Amino acid sequence: MSSTDSTISVKPRGEGNAPPPYGRAVRGEFLLDPDFLIVNHGSFGAAPRSVLAAQDEWRRQLETSPTRFMNRVLTDALRHAAGRLAASMGASGDDLVFVDNATTGCNAVLRSLDLGPGDEILVTDHTYPAIRRTADYVAYRTGARVVVAEIPYPPRDAAAIVAAVAGALTPRTSLAILDHVTSPTALVMPLEALIAACRAVAATVLVDGAHAPGNIPLDLPALGTDWYVGNCHKWLMAPKGAGFLWASKPAQAAVHPATISLHYGEGFTPEFDWTGTRDPSACLAVTAALDFQDRLGGPALMQRNATLAQQAATLVAGRLGTESGTEPSLAAAMTTVRLPLAGPATQERALALAGRLLDDYRCDAPITAFAGALWLRLSAAAYNDIDDYAEVATRVAALLRSPA
Ligand SMILES: Cc1ncc(COP(=O)(O)O)c(C=O)c1O
Repeated sequence: MSSTDSTISVKPRGEGNAPPPYGRAVRGEFLLDPDFLIVNHGSFGAAPRSVLAAQDEWRRQLETSPTRFMNRVLTDALRHAAGRLAASMGASGDDLVFVDNATTGCNAVLRSLDLGPGDEILVTDHTYPAIRRTADYVAYRTGARVVVAEIPYPPRDAAAIVAAVAGALTPRTSLAILDHVTSPTALVMPLEALIAACRAVAATVLVDGAHAPGNIPLDLPALGTDWYVGNCHKWLMAPKGAGFLWASKPAQAAVHPATISLHYGEGFTPEFDWTGTRDPSACLAVTAALDFQDRLGGPALMQRNATLAQQAATLVAGRLGTESGTEPSLAAAMTTVRLPLAGPATQERALALAGRLLDDYRCDAPITAFAGALWLRLSAAAYNDIDDYAEVATRVAALLRSPA
């Protein structure tokens, strides 16, 4: 148990006042290779053994009686899982469908909308590249224009972010794509104020919440967005292949899956519940992932991870003699630290450094080029301890000392 844990008051459900174990005490519940120092939960998550066992059991049931499962069991099971997932985010299962991942969910929305010349799609310079490419593709196909709001990094405060986005909105903004937690810069965006600014110009809103479920508390209907896409395999620790799309009631009819199949025209949930024969076990195991989250304290786990991420940034920045890019009021379980490097701050250099850090120093942490600097992103997951970040600092310092 790390020194971090003693500073956090945690009341797990049904277990009196004993805090649930975190860090090394739960690492054995994951398959993670002990030869690697993994502080990159944000990229692909990691599913615990109990959740993978639940997924195996769903797959076993399917393969035991394929026709019966696909025709008699699957839809009800998916709707049950959707209901539980939605309830964990203050929503109704009728408004939530599973998709393979956040990219698929964003594609469903973007490629369904009736855009044309004169329409603008707002993104930011922090938008995840796959979603930016999808917006570019849709703009190319429809004649719409992609407008990029440039958000200063590190931002002074939430108002600086809102001002940057509001300044790029126009009466022609048809759709705004807003990240809830940004990937390169680990910012938790001031979503409510951003959505209000979008509404002021009558723009529809797609929130890319790939990093949000299990990372920050969510009340999807209260946000006032049209569509919200999330990943369950990251911070909810579900298996890969479990993402979701939530849509407000009025925004459901406009959206169809990126893959049209048997139930086209029958409504939001039937269309998405069947997009051709596929392995649904990851989505069905989301209920086991929600159980695991609950066992680890639910909101208390989120709070613990956010605190640990801040402590990690302070520690690593101190050891490298730089600063964190993360303002605590705009952060959750990920933080960034500037690398003390002169020379070009290019994405190629960032990728090369992260590759060497992984291969030569067995340390898994992404590095990004942003705003003229190179940034190390630190994730704090249930299985991480503060000691992990002391070791990260040692290995990154060694990397920076060694010639490329
Ligand atoms: C903000 C954001 N959006 C979308 C994605 C894409 O997620 P996926 O590859 O699971 O579709 C990511 C992945 O990290 C992300 O960080």
